[in-house]
Amino acid sequence: MRSLVRVGFALLVPVLMAPLARAGDGLALTPPMGWNSWNKFGCNVSEKLIRAAADALVSSGMKDAGYQYVVIDDCWQVRRDAAGKIVADPERFPSGIKALADAVHAKGLKFGIYSDAGTMTCAKRPGSKDHEAQDAKAYAEWGVDYLKYDWCNTDGQDTRDSYAKMSQALRASGRPIVFSICEWGNSKPWTWAQGIGHLWRATGDIQDCWDCGKSWGGMGVVHIIDLMADLHAFSGPGHWNDPDMLEVGNHGLTLPENRAHFSFWALFAAPLMAGNDLAAMKPAIRDILTNREVIAVDQDPLGMQGRKVRDDGAHEVWIKPLADASRAVILFNRGTEESPITASWEEIGLFPGGKAVVRDLWKKADVGSFTGRFQAKVEPHGVVMLRITPQF
Ligand code: GLA
Repeated sequence: MRSLVRVGFALLVPVLMAPLARAGDGLALTPPMGWNSWNKFGCNVSEKLIRAAADALVSSGMKDAGYQYVVIDDCWQVRRDAAGKIVADPERFPSGIKALADAVHAKGLKFGIYSDAGTMTCAKRPGSKDHEAQDAKAYAEWGVDYLKYDWCNTDGQDTRDSYAKMSQALRASGRPIVFSICEWGNSKPWTWAQGIGHLWRATGDIQDCWDCGKSWGGMGVVHIIDLMADLHAFSGPGHWNDPDMLEVGNHGLTLPENRAHFSFWALFAAPLMAGNDLAAMKPAIRDILTNREVIAVDQDPLGMQGRKVRDDGAHEVWIKPLADASRAVILFNRGTEESPITASWEEIGLFPGGKAVVRDLWKKADVGSFTGRFQAKVEPHGVVMLRITPQF
């Protein structure tokens, strides 16, 4: 009898442990959400700006909608002291980073910071190379909850080794710190970074435009959507493909393009790091960033990245399976004319002859119950985003 119990227990343990094993250290079980200074403010960061962003995150309702991390990107650091400790810009951060982290925490938010695996950051501030343990210790002492770690000035360094070194240093610091790998997808981090970082950039730097491209690798929203299309197998709880931070509200996109951008990031289960000026945000932009039904698609506990199931040139259908057996569906119109786009139940993985309830996530309304297919008119450079729930 006792041996039967033992066998039963031995069989049960792997089952009980499975979610933990899959999720690594238990951090970032859903894609991280927050705000980062870079897209709008570049090097123009200060404690005043970061405090104002934290205030606005709360007052705009974004914190209540799930945004949590307030992250200072490049340019907060100026030098190392005689002992090698990284020093924050005393003019822009006169109270120091610990006081700033405390202020962010006091609002019920989490605090993030930025460094680089090389000798210098992309903006030529001191990088963390050969200071990994020292920097990780400083971050832990300051109360850092999230580190974005860039890849400039890394000549001759091995990518995996460099990121693994900081990953280990963060773990050794004793503080749970989400680790965001930022090497622009160069070495296909989706093939090696699970267990090292919680998210990894899959593409070059996003630009505030629909389809522009820069010679140095920056790219518009639509190019990033295309680069993400084949990466759905590599994302999941604790290990996310990162198509870069949001440009929603930064003036280079029309309202339909902003909605399309946000819808795709949610379908990709992407980290949702707002990158706009929160204090000056217009209501229409706040309504996009705080659409809870779209955010629920991003944060769905199944953690599956969505994928394209139909490509008719200008018209596409994308789906993301959700934990409750429904599907998030994007009808995407790349063209310049309003057009009808149809999704059939078969292509979105539902019983072809079955009935399903269709909800429009931007109209925030049920459209009705349909059998076999659903068609909607989609504006140019726009999406209709749906949640389709089978009726059994
Ligand atoms: C790189 C990153 C950006 C930003 C800048 C800062 O380009 O990809 O997201 O962090 O560096 O210099």
